[in-house]
Amino acid sequence: MPGLIDRYRDRLPFAPGDPVVSLQEGSTPLVRAPRLGERVGAEVYLKIEGANPTGSFKDLGMTCAVSDAVRNGSEAVLCASTGNTAASLAAYAARAGLRGAVIVPEGKIATGKLAQALMHGARVIALRGNFDVALALVREVCVRQPIALVNSVNPFRIEGQKTAAFEIVDELGPGRPIDALSIPVGNAGNITAYWKGFQEAGQAPRMLGFQAAGAAPLVHGAPVEHPETVASAIRIGNPARWEEAMAAMTSSRGAVRAVTDEQILDAYRWLAATEGIFCEPASAASVAGLLAHGVPDGVQRVVCVLTGHGLKDPQTALLQAGSVVPCEPELDAVEHAVLG
Ligand code: F0G
Repeated sequence: MPGLIDRYRDRLPFAPGDPVVSLQEGSTPLVRAPRLGERVGAEVYLKIEGANPTGSFKDLGMTCAVSDAVRNGSEAVLCASTGNTAASLAAYAARAGLRGAVIVPEGKIATGKLAQALMHGARVIALRGNFDVALALVREVCVRQPIALVNSVNPFRIEGQKTAAFEIVDELGPGRPIDALSIPVGNAGNITAYWKGFQEAGQAPRMLGFQAAGAAPLVHGAPVEHPETVASAIRIGNPARWEEAMAAMTSSRGAVRAVTDEQILDAYRWLAATEGIFCEPASAASVAGLLAHGVPDGVQRVVCVLTGHGLKDPQTALLQAGSVVPCEPELDAVEHAVLG
């Protein structure tokens, strides 16, 4: 499969001769989840965005934002991030030969994401402040300096990410529209993008947004000054795309609800152990939301967006998983260990 700009160029703001920075992102699997479907009483599919080149949906937006930065002659790109945007920026900046810098909340991003950003050669700045503070600061820096801002306030990020909705429509076929989309909400760019994509494709599934209970400004209707959750990717108290996200949920007759860390972690372990799909904690919020709040009346076909790969956050996984079985290198001992 080509990258998403080549696949969907006629619906994106890129002309035929424009530079394209791509790692062949997109075209991710849409996997039927029969056991989850049984539990919630609907036909459920999982959109595996962790299958993207850097392991999250951010690559869909980043190919467009970085391609546009190259088209504009930018030499550097910058973002604030809870981790995945940083990893994606770093990879696409490396690919494009641009300088990349990322500002992350100190000590609050998952290990895999930090490793990615560093390996791809970005300048990684650990801010003594949370994501919301970081985003406010990078917005100012990009006004003062000739650096392209590639957070989802950049409209090219939304353009790229909207193609995930096209993929769902194309995969299931125009005669089999989904009734609802379940999606974790942090800075609220992705729900905004999916809604734009569905509208452009002539569909209007109910947009069900889920936030972590300790970081649920849209649920409370007010910013959260000190957001806290085990799902570090969505530890955000003042989403940049607040208005657009609320408009998407309202006009689609959807909803925004909270899920506790315990519900998130239960869904995270259950999905890995039962459906064979390992996503990161923030991603599991979409499944936790369906399990905790049920599907709305009349909803038969649902897609849960699994935004990032489980390997992004090995520390949380090891804390949540069972332990290993120590064993002496002798046949009896091994047999005993294997049989439990
Ligand atoms: N899931 C994951 C794995 C994420 O990394 C994010 C956001 C979201 C869900 C929420 O998406 O912000 O568009 O509502 N991560 C950003 C980052 C904030 O910096 O990586 P959103």
